Amino acid sequence: MTPTAVPVDLNPVSPQNLADPVAFYRELQRRAPVYWAEPIHTWLVSRHEDVMAGFRDPRLSANRTAFFEHQVQSLGPASIQGFMKIIRNQVFMKDGTEHIRLRRNMNPGFTAQSLDKWRPAIRRTMEQLLERVSARGQMDLVKEISYELPPLVIAELLGIPVEDRERFRAWSKPIADFSSPAPDADMGVLVQEVNRAMMAFSGYLTGIVEERRSAPGADVISQMVSAEEEGKLSTEEVVANALLLIFAGHTTTTDQFSNCVHDLLTHPDQLQALRDNPGLLDSTIEESVRFNPAVPFIGRFAVEDFELRGQTIPKGSHVMFALGAANRDPEVFSEPDRFDITRDRTQTRHLGFGFGPHQCIGSGLARRELEIALELLLQRLPGLRLDEEHTPVKHHSLAFRGFSSLHVRW
Ligand code: HEM
Repeated sequence: MTPTAVPVDLNPVSPQNLADPVAFYRELQRRAPVYWAEPIHTWLVSRHEDVMAGFRDPRLSANRTAFFEHQVQSLGPASIQGFMKIIRNQVFMKDGTEHIRLRRNMNPGFTAQSLDKWRPAIRRTMEQLLERVSARGQMDLVKEISYELPPLVIAELLGIPVEDRERFRAWSKPIADFSSPAPDADMGVLVQEVNRAMMAFSGYLTGIVEERRSAPGADVISQMVSAEEEGKLSTEEVVANALLLIFAGHTTTTDQFSNCVHDLLTHPDQLQALRDNPGLLDSTIEESVRFNPAVPFIGRFAVEDFELRGQTIPKGSHVMFALGAANRDPEVFSEPDRFDITRDRTQTRHLGFGFGPHQCIGSGLARRELEIALELLLQRLPGLRLDEEHTPVKHHSLAFRGFSSLHVRW
């Protein structure tokens, strides 16, 4: 008897599709590559070709203020004034020449040459984290490593004093919770917490900016302060974008590291291939960002009516690029659902770090961090495997995909 195919529902936030989106991605691309998802009032664009074009299309604005205002509809836009005041100055909300200006003044800290200087600090930080656990024989990878490493690395990059790091991590959480709220979240509480965290965080960073004016260092804030002194950035922009770097570089890298380790531990042949040939380290990271991107969807707003694959996207609509789906588009990737660290990447590109003007400014940092962390993890914890006594706990929203806990043994 032939099994009856179960129809795949196209609700992006159904528990089934959030937990395991692969069938949903495939159906979207096949049946409805430009799809109005009523439950989230958003157009979903899922084919690789369309997502690449969309990232460069000036009719799709990166200004996402309307998204946040929609999120607090019942409370009114005034409820998130504190939050909005800061994110309005962030590079990821800007279009055109304003975006170019901000990005140009942030770029010097993110060139390959600048980032290579941080390699020893990343290595040292990861070694310290591993020293704490190596004798134990087991740990929750998320708690001990994935969640710990990225903020420590960003703190190095920004020159944040060690004793303040706990504080800035505590401020990051409400911002992450508000940006991608759980379905049962109390928005009233989230809004209060996010405003409070944003104001405290920006007040703290304003103090750091003042310090750097009189005592500049080799860090990224000092680089932005020098642009400020030349009149190319305002103080508010330096503070808002330092805050963005802290936030954008934390949960993304945390999730991607856990996703990568999970992918390897559930594909023992690939893990063995990497152990046999450490030269595959960078290719392993790329495959993980393709196969299980930490940011599976990213949003834009239509600034005019336009047609895409026979659908009219009206002005003002929220559009999301389904990066997770584009990364598995069978028109671009052969055997897209196979995790293959030896995949030929010369003709294809995944979109896990975005594309076009807003392509991730921190991708070089994330790549270095993930490579060093994975290399040391496999070296220092021989026989690393999943701990079968604990079920991995995933967390998934449209914006972020990763693990809340992932127990391993060695
Ligand atoms: C594996 C980890 C990471 C992933 C998967 C990731 C993913 C992304 C994606 C998809 C975008 C495009 C957003 C858009 O088009 O609207 C983006 C932008 C951005 N990312 Fe990352 N990111 C990661 C790590 C980092 C790190 C470590 C930093 C900084 C320290 C960072 C800072 C940023 C910033 C500032 C932008 C906005 C750039 C702009 O608008 O011009 N990211 N990231």
